[in-house]
This record gives sequence, C-alpha cells and structure tokens, in this order.
Amino acid sequence: MLHKLHRLSASLISLYILFHLLNHLTALAGIQAHIDYMRAYRLLYRFPPVETLLLACVLFQTGSGLYFVWARRGRRQGFFDHAQAWSGLYLAFFLLFHLSAVLYGRWGQGVDTNFYFAAAGLNLGNYFLFFMPYYFLSIVAYFTHIGCGLRWLLQTRLGPRGCDRLAGGMMAVGALLSGIIIATFSGAWYLVSIPSAYQFAGLAR
Ligand code: HEM
Repeated sequence: MLHKLHRLSASLISLYILFHLLNHLTALAGIQAHIDYMRAYRLLYRFPPVETLLLACVLFQTGSGLYFVWARRGRRQGFFDHAQAWSGLYLAFFLLFHLSAVLYGRWGQGVDTNFYFAAAGLNLGNYFLFFMPYYFLSIVAYFTHIGCGLRWLLQTRLGPRGCDRLAGGMMAVGALLSGIIIATFSGAWYLVSIPSAYQFAGLAR
C-alpha cells in the first residue's frame, strides 16, 4: 500500500517537474522567455488547491522514501539498488531545502522567486561552489531515481539487461539535461547580471 502511494505521489510530482524542467530549458531562449513561461505556468501550480496538493505530495514522498531507505538498510545489492537509495536520499535533502528556500524567498523576503532567484547563487561570488553541485545533482538524482524505479517495475517485460540499459540511459539523459540547464543559468551563452534585489535574498537557497 505504501509503495503504491509512493508511486502515485511520484507521478503527481513528476508532472510538475516535467514542466518545471521544461521551464528551465526555455532559458536557452533568454531570461525573458524563462520568466514568461513561469508566469503562465504559475497560474496552474500556484492555484492554492494545486499547490497545497503538490507540497503535501513532496512531504509524503520525502517521509515515505526515508522510511523505505531505513527499512531496507543492509539488504541492497548491486549498483542500481544502491543508486536508488542514494538518489532518494539526495532528493529528500534537496526538496526540503529547495522548497523552504523558495517559500521563504516568496513569503519571508517578498521577492519574486524567478530566474534571477535561482541564478543568484550561481553567479555571485564563490557561491557557485555550493550551488553548482547542489542543482546539478538534483536533476541527476531525479532521473536516476525514476530510472531505478522503472528498472524494478519493468523487469519482467524488459529483462535484466534491458532494465539496466533503461536506468543507465536515464541517468545519462539526466546528467546531460542538468549540464545544459546549469550552464544556462550560470551565463554560459549570454550575460546573466543579477538585479540588486536578488543580491542578498537570492542567496538564501
Ligand atoms: C537546476 C535545477 C532547479 C532550479 C534552478 C529550480 C528553481 C526553482 C525556482 C526558481 C522555483 C520557484 C518557482 C516559482 O516561484 O514559482 C522552484 C520551485 C520548485 N521546484 Fe525547483 N528548481 C530546480 C530543480 C528542481 C527539481 C529537480 C525539483 C524536484 C525534484 C524541483 C522542485 C520544485 C518544487 C516542488 C517547487 C515549488 C513549486 C511551488 O509550489 O511553488 N526543482 N524551483
């Protein structure tokens, strides 16, 4: 039962994340494109019943995931089995940190938590030493975790080698996507200058 709920909640969160990551890819077309997409997408996920459900799913996902890691401790075998636990642990850390920062930025500091809020940590001083791996690993961990879950779910249909290829392929796609998004936010393709309102507020996450 708990596994089924974990999967259901993962599907709802994944729906949000799919469009969230697409949002970050729109930054390839410029900062304004990212801001415009987010403004439109917010109409959906900031609708109070939707946002409450999303945040509740994240809390449930984190709690149930930590329980699974604890319950199967010492009984994991092989690379993907361990990768599933470590990626889940990282996602639990990232999601709680990321959401606290975003909600604190929005309600505590009163800033618009848009492109600049995320880009501040990657472009000001030496903060990129923390924020680059922090963001990079979030997307890699997400794809790793989903890949390992699918590997387990589809084992009878794809066979052991097919499942390993699927999970490995998803990890590679995650790393590539993550690299593109982090490079874009870090100013690899155009100048990213952080407005003064974000020079302090943005660094809370
Ligand atoms: C490079 C990676 C990422 C960046 C730069 C980033 C940035 C942001 C920003 C700026 C917001 C605020 C959105 C708003 O104000 O409307 C946000 C919200 C959020 N992000 Fe991310 N994010 C990243 C990756 C992720 C990942 C991998 C996940 C999930 C595993 C995630 C989950 C969320 C959630 C659940 C919200 C809150 C939505 C809400 O209720 O307002 N993010 N992110």
